[in-house]
Amino acid sequence: MTGQDLVTRAEAAAANAYAPYSGYHVGATVLTKDGRIYDGVNVENAAYPLGICAEKTAIAKAASEGVRPGDVDAIGITASPCGGCRQWLHEWRFERVCFRREDGTIAEHAPAGLLPETWNLPKP
Ligand code: THU
Repeated sequence: MTGQDLVTRAEAAAANAYAPYSGYHVGATVLTKDGRIYDGVNVENAAYPLGICAEKTAIAKAASEGVRPGDVDAIGITASPCGGCRQWLHEWRFERVCFRREDGTIAEHAPAGLLPETWNLPKP
């Protein structure tokens, strides 16, 4: 799937966002290297900081089905990922991170380009 295809699918998934507080609907679509697809949306909560981003929902769905870092090819997102999600994208070793820019064009990056000099847990 192209980055454009993934972002278009994420935009359709965003219809299911649960975002009654911000009104900002986000969708994300994970594509694994073996062709499985997981859609996610942001899920907010009345205790605002407890809400989760669409990217984390989609990755958690994939993880729950046994997908592991390195098994993923790409993620499409309706907008540029937040800083916290960039750390998740790094952990999961996506090859392509695709999202719609505010000007409507599609961005495609390797995670390292979105989070330079990334922190890693030191080996014991
Ligand atoms: N949000 C995401 O789902 N992903 C991001 O990368 C940025 C922000 C959500 C969280 C919250 O539900 C809403 O957007 C407004 O911040």
